[in-house]
Amino acid sequence: MKLTMIAACLVSLALASPAVASTSSSSAVGGELYSGQNKDPEDTKAYVLIEYAVIPSKQSEFVAAFEQTASATKKEEGSVVYTLTRSVDENLSFWLYSEWTGMKAFAEHFNATYVKDFVKRSSELDVVYKLHILDKVIY
Ligand SMILES: *[C@@H]1O[C@H](CO)[C@@H](O)[C@H](O)[C@H]1NC(C)=O
Ligand SMILES: *[C@@H]1O[C@H](CO)[C@@H](O)[C@H](O)[C@H]1NC(C)=O
Repeated sequence: MKLTMIAACLVSLALASPAVASTSSSSAVGGELYSGQNKDPEDTKAYVLIEYAVIPSKQSEFVAAFEQTASATKKEEGSVVYTLTRSVDENLSFWLYSEWTGMKAFAEHFNATYVKDFVKRSSELDVVYKLHILDKVIY
């Protein structure tokens, strides 16, 4: 499947969650995917950054929900890097940086029950997120 098609599927999945609909940027992951000049045709890996805004009173529940998803995700064959980070200069943002063997592996991950449960839980915790499909620039 072409990268743009997979990204479009992921956008529609993400849009199914009301918390996301208000902030999801179609320019980041929609039909017009940015493709950098330096894209290496040999590199089939997928690079994905998800930015979360989590209100302070819900952060411990968010992290607890994330821990469950992360332990299952790290067992996936297609998962290469899966790291949740947070900002040290404000108390709102978390960033999930991930690398996958390919877009197919990422799409399969997004399809897993534990990911759907996490998306649902995030929505209950009023988490707002934005997904960015990245292009590697320096090789
Ligand atoms: C963020 O806010 C929560 C809840 O108010 C607090 O427990 C936590 O220590 C704060 N963290 C930082 C890094 O300021
Ligand atoms: C997602 O799950 C459905 C139902 O289990 C399956 O038919 C479909 O092929 C899966 N899609 C991906 C991309 O894994």
